[in-house]
Amino acid sequence: MAYYECAKLHELVDGFKRVVRLPTMSVLVLHDCGQTYIIENRCPHMDAPLHTGEFDGEVLRCRAHGIAFSLVTGKAEGPLKDALPCLKSFSIVYQGNGLGVDL
Ligand code: FES
Repeated sequence: MAYYECAKLHELVDGFKRVVRLPTMSVLVLHDCGQTYIIENRCPHMDAPLHTGEFDGEVLRCRAHGIAFSLVTGKAEGPLKDALPCLKSFSIVYQGNGLGVDL
């Protein structure tokens, strides 16, 4: 496994959003209300990039077709809840004054 830093701890303010390109994919780092999330920057619906979506606390709404996803459970909200795959999320690894993922 290799560690990829995605942000510095001091950068994590409410509303923080960053796309990080990793060797095999892009991830999206989000921070709000004391919570940080790292997810694949790809919508489980039809693969649109998620970084253009609206981020509000624990919910991310994909701009392509408006489906909202819970960042806590990864599930879509509404009628497609059980029909779509979940967001792909990553465990956050802290190293020094940074955070990132192990791939
Ligand atoms: S691609 Fe995201 S809602 Fe359709």
